[in-house]
Amino acid sequence: MPTKKKKSNYKQSEEIKPPQGRLGVLLPGLSGAVSTTFIAGIEAIKRGLGKPFGSLTQMGTIRLGKRTEKRSPHILDFVPLAHTQDLVFGGWDIFPDNSYEAALKAGVLEKNLLDELRLELEEINPMPAVFDRRYVRNLNGIHLKKEKTKMHFAERLIDDIKNFKKENKLDRLIMIWCGSTEIYIKPSKVHSTIQNFEEGLRDNHPEIAPSMIYAYAAIQCGVPYANGAPNLSADIPALIQMAKRKKVPIAGKDFKTGQTLMKTIIAPGLKARMLGLKGWFSTNILGNRDGEVLDDPYSFKTKEESKLSVLEYILQPDLYPELYSDYYHKVRINYYPPRGDAKEAWDNIDIFGWLSYPMQIKINFLCRDSILAAPIVLDLVLFLDLAKRAGLYGIQEWLSFYFKSPMFGEGLYPEHDLFIQLMKLKNTLRYLKGEELITHLGLDYYDYYEPG
Ligand SMILES: NC(=O)c1ccc[n+]([C@@H]2O[C@H](COP(=O)([O-])OP(=O)(O)OC[C@H]3O[C@@H](n4cnc5c(N)ncnc54)[C@H](O)[C@@H]3O)[C@@H](O)[C@H]2O)c1
Repeated sequence: MPTKKKKSNYKQSEEIKPPQGRLGVLLPGLSGAVSTTFIAGIEAIKRGLGKPFGSLTQMGTIRLGKRTEKRSPHILDFVPLAHTQDLVFGGWDIFPDNSYEAALKAGVLEKNLLDELRLELEEINPMPAVFDRRYVRNLNGIHLKKEKTKMHFAERLIDDIKNFKKENKLDRLIMIWCGSTEIYIKPSKVHSTIQNFEEGLRDNHPEIAPSMIYAYAAIQCGVPYANGAPNLSADIPALIQMAKRKKVPIAGKDFKTGQTLMKTIIAPGLKARMLGLKGWFSTNILGNRDGEVLDDPYSFKTKEESKLSVLEYILQPDLYPELYSDYYHKVRINYYPPRGDAKEAWDNIDIFGWLSYPMQIKINFLCRDSILAAPIVLDLVLFLDLAKRAGLYGIQEWLSFYFKSPMFGEGLYPEHDLFIQLMKLKNTLRYLKGEELITHLGLDYYDYYEPG
């Protein structure tokens, strides 16, 4: 497909507005494992009870200029990011538990730590959700809004957003979907234009899922939106168009943690060394509520699509048919309650090398899903807020680093290689600040190089 020449939406660094005042973080799925681990984590970090390991915005540095210049500031000193102290949390859930009760139930963080944060966490209560069991069949909500049409639901969410901003005296807002994975929906006519979508909202169209209604409400309010789950949500032409029109940055889908993170670390390495692939079998056990939701084949289908696409794009079988056109890829998720949030993932990778000799790689990753996801939520909040203040809008491809199924522009393909994604992210920060982009060419360090 030909790539259209588009006007750049890039603004110069001088125009990045400073992060003044308080930044509201709205989370659909406020009582879930990821949300509560993120919120309690930030409260713990504010009090010096923990460190933000896993967060690029808090721990990462960025090299500027030549290697000989030795300039590698911390990212948070390089670009004007909001401070964690200025974050204010809110959101919606189908369960009414406050964030203390919900974090206890999620069972990710220890009770001792949560007890120290109890006062702050008890003050965070979810607003009633927009939810429909037809889209998440293994959950039964009790803390719900009641309206006649999906457009009315959207209007109530818009009221919530405005009230939350006013009541908490916030300057800016971000919304990150941390709600459950919805059933698989294919983009169709109702998603194709803003007009069709709004008509669908008024007519209660069955292909408009709750996560799309939240995304619509956020974009309508000018609030940057990211989707941490694999369901479409904002990844439909109607909402992409609306985000451009309203100048709102959007990103998604599906936080890249655990097994897929490992996949996007290892697969580029195999390809870099031209090692072939015969098969990649991935299986997991997990026992949290997310696992229970994914136990339903309709929600699992959404997750499966997201997890499967990764290898295809990284390995480029069209360019390397002898190496990658004939591999078998299988992904399984098994709900196993005793494990709770402490997931265990196994990968068996059958590869081949010189003269087709076979080899195997086995990975056994004993990870903690929400511990890996929480820093991603923080980085997305801070980078989306930066994007908005820098005048970026529409799909934020430079945030692909954080997603299993990155959103991408028309005529492109998604970039899944973690290392290309990181380079893209850091170059975007350099670009925003008017610094030279780094290509890693490096010839000019050597005296045999004579330019011109
Ligand atoms: N933890 C990870 O590593 C990871 C990685 C990638 C994606 N995800 C996705 O992130 C999401 C959150 O994961 P989790 O482990 O916190 O799951 P969770 O089940 O603990 O939390 C999800 C929360 O969303 C709520 N919810 C569902 N539908 C809602 C709606 N319409 N409105 C408001 N609230 C709603 C549920 O009640 C629940 O409290 C899931 O979709 C999961 O697939 C998580």
